[in-house]
Amino acid sequence: MSNKNITPFYDPSLSYDENCKTGPFGGFADGEIYKNKGEPTHDFLGQKVYLPFGIPAGPIPNANFCEGGFQKGFDIIMYKTVRTRSHPCNAFPNIVPVKIDGKNLTLEQASAGLIMGEKFEDPIAITNSFGVPSIPPEEWIPDMRKAVKCAGKGQVLVATYLGTPGNGEDAFIQDWVDGAKMIRETGAPIVELDLSCPNEGKSSLLCHDTERVVKIVHAIQPIFKSSNIPVLIKLSYFSSDKKLKDFIEKVAPYVAGFNAINTIAGDVRKADGSQALPGKGRLISGVCGAPIKWAGIDMVQRMAKIRKESQSKFIIIGTGGVTTPSDYKEYIEAGADAVMSATGAMWNTDLAKQIKQEIL
Ligand SMILES: Cc1cc2nc3c(=O)[nH]c(=O)nc-3n(C[C@H](O)[C@H](O)[C@H](O)COP(=O)(O)O)c2cc1C
Repeated sequence: MSNKNITPFYDPSLSYDENCKTGPFGGFADGEIYKNKGEPTHDFLGQKVYLPFGIPAGPIPNANFCEGGFQKGFDIIMYKTVRTRSHPCNAFPNIVPVKIDGKNLTLEQASAGLIMGEKFEDPIAITNSFGVPSIPPEEWIPDMRKAVKCAGKGQVLVATYLGTPGNGEDAFIQDWVDGAKMIRETGAPIVELDLSCPNEGKSSLLCHDTERVVKIVHAIQPIFKSSNIPVLIKLSYFSSDKKLKDFIEKVAPYVAGFNAINTIAGDVRKADGSQALPGKGRLISGVCGAPIKWAGIDMVQRMAKIRKESQSKFIIIGTGGVTTPSDYKEYIEAGADAVMSATGAMWNTDLAKQIKQEIL
């Protein structure tokens, strides 16, 4: 890798539990603290931040990781998606390298299937498959509360969660409502709903089912509104302009903004054709890193066009494939109000510092 911090802050060679218990690693544990200068001037949903840049839901599973990220100058940190009940993590390994033919991972390549790589290398491309594990709320509520307090001046923690399907549609919506009440207890000033996880062994994503999403946001909105907590929606890539426009028109009245994209789902196999990640429902997993940047930029541009045409005020967060300061600028030029990096930040814990050195 081109950066000095070659040990990622979340170590893919360890299990999820080992990471949670003993992490973070690499640059998040080297003791060097980035010092922001002056006053924070960017408004991010009512919170002042030095730079609208951070780490999206995923590689930051607890308050210790949040602290490491804030100390490295990532001013917006999203706590890994939680549930209203405890849920196991998929079997190890959860992150493996993926070989991509060319610079961009096209949707055609993803649906044709991909081959696992031998090592993590530049330009970084991985697949991740955790199954959205969750410790019970009795444990994550106090930990998230602690994480909220780790944010320094000009920094903010965002909570993220999802509802778990249960006994019918009403129970599912109720689970989203119960989750909203739990998140409210943590003091997190902003929340994001994860509607785009490809790792639950299902072929369809919740964000592609507009009517269901409207039911969810309609049900949870009063809870967050009464506490002044802006709601963000995490989206996957939409191929159809018509579907994206329809989704945004119907959902935007209930939320403060949209974050795109999550990973691009693809079948990942070893070179001998066998399934790369062990277990049922795990042939398909979420590919992320440098080769998906095109899809994040494309979604941001299309959402910015919809926002302009409809004279709406929702904010747009651009995520996907950000590994350099110029990727950050590209997202801002595409219309993003804030930018996030998961895979890029994992392997380059100086990324926020490097962007700040160029921009501020
Ligand atoms: C290790 C890892 C775990 C992730 N877990 C979540 C998650 O729990 N919830 C979520 O909404 N997205 C999750 N994501 C997706 C990221 O938030 C992000 O949308 C995606 O990785 C694309 O950004 P990137 O190319 O910078 O990695 C995860 C990503 C990674 C790398």
